[in-house]
Amino acid sequence: MTAAPAVKVRHARRTYTADLAPVRALRGIDLDVGSGEFLAVTGPSGCGKSTLLNVIAGLDSLDEGTIEVDGQRVDGRDEDWLATFRRHHIGIVFQFFNLLDGVSALDNLVLPGVLGGMRRRAAESRARDLLDLLGLGDRAEQIPAVLSGGQRQRLAIARALVNEPTLLLADEPTGALDTAGGMEILELFRRLHAGGQTIVLVTHSPEVAAGAARQVLMRDGLIEADSASPAQASSSGADAEARDSEPVPADLAAGAV
Ligand SMILES: Nc1ncnc2c1ncn2[C@@H]1O[C@H](COP(=O)(O)OP(=O)(O)O)[C@@H](O)[C@H]1O
Ligand SMILES: [Mg+2]
Repeated sequence: MTAAPAVKVRHARRTYTADLAPVRALRGIDLDVGSGEFLAVTGPSGCGKSTLLNVIAGLDSLDEGTIEVDGQRVDGRDEDWLATFRRHHIGIVFQFFNLLDGVSALDNLVLPGVLGGMRRRAAESRARDLLDLLGLGDRAEQIPAVLSGGQRQRLAIARALVNEPTLLLADEPTGALDTAGGMEILELFRRLHAGGQTIVLVTHSPEVAAGAARQVLMRDGLIEADSASPAQASSSGADAEARDSEPVPADLAAGAV
């Protein structure tokens, strides 16, 4: 991989203190995501996918290790710094859309644009372009409640893209949709990727993960397999030279280019 890394995670550990026993959500993650990559992080429920996404976004903190996004350290920053950084570098999409219910589709996009420093007119023009791009051009004046689940998720993706973030993060974006709606969102991510967008998508669905260009499989807070470097599978990345020796599991390889 020659592209500059958009995300660099080193020795990331995160333990939650719970009543009974501590939960080790991340147990030492190393991960590079190149600029322009479309990466799916997959694995069973509870394996640490959301925690990984949240620490990359600076929404959660690390106990040990470092995170860089666009060459800048994200770990250990205060809320103000993170809020400003996220506005211009990171777009985030969640399972349940988190749209502003009381305002139009257009204003759901214009407001974050204005918050990001655009003039209203520029934000509006950007918003209309995005609505067109995502097939919502004729929905600009409608409120989210009258849109379908798939349309709402497309609107949430448009909102995440308003300020042209280098990195698009998505946590189970197809989780609240039926199969057809989920595939439609996946297809949209593939188009955005083709246009150069860096995407990290978290999903427990192997079908959705297979649609990404690269698959990382997590288990119990560790990376168990990475389609970009099969040798990492069982050795925690210790022996990257053994690249050709271990085949990728078929379900992981399915979506690899
Ligand atoms: N805020 C929290 N407090 C305590 N435990 C948490 C918290 N967030 C996540 N966990 C635990 O950390 C583990 C990993 O969670 P998560 O990253 O949400 O997994 P996934 O997204 O793969 O389902 C789980 O055991 C979960 O219960
Ligand atoms: Mg999760």
